[in-house]
Amino acid sequence: MTDQPSLLRLCAIDDVLEGCAFKVQEGDHAYAVYNLAGSYFVTDDMCTHGPGSLGEGELYGDIIECNFHGGQFNVRTGEVAGPPCMEPVRTYKVHVEGGGVFIEV
Ligand code: FES
Repeated sequence: MTDQPSLLRLCAIDDVLEGCAFKVQEGDHAYAVYNLAGSYFVTDDMCTHGPGSLGEGELYGDIIECNFHGGQFNVRTGEVAGPPCMEPVRTYKVHVEGGGVFIEV
């Protein structure tokens, strides 16, 4: 028997404009949801470099630019795409169901 991951609903798909990032606060944790031409990706909101918010950053293709020092991450993989960031950001498996964006937790 395999354990099924639980799904956490973050927002409606319509909350995230195409080509944009959207910050979602869930309890004491914040997530950044991205809409890439109708495909959705989710990372932690907090930049690994400092206090920047990725959900309030600018999205360029699949690269999110932090709103604090301009560091960059690939939203598909979480890998660093530009300095001064050094550590990747956590990504989540995303499910889109019934007009909502969910992650596996
Ligand atoms: S806090 Fe994000 S690049 Fe420095």
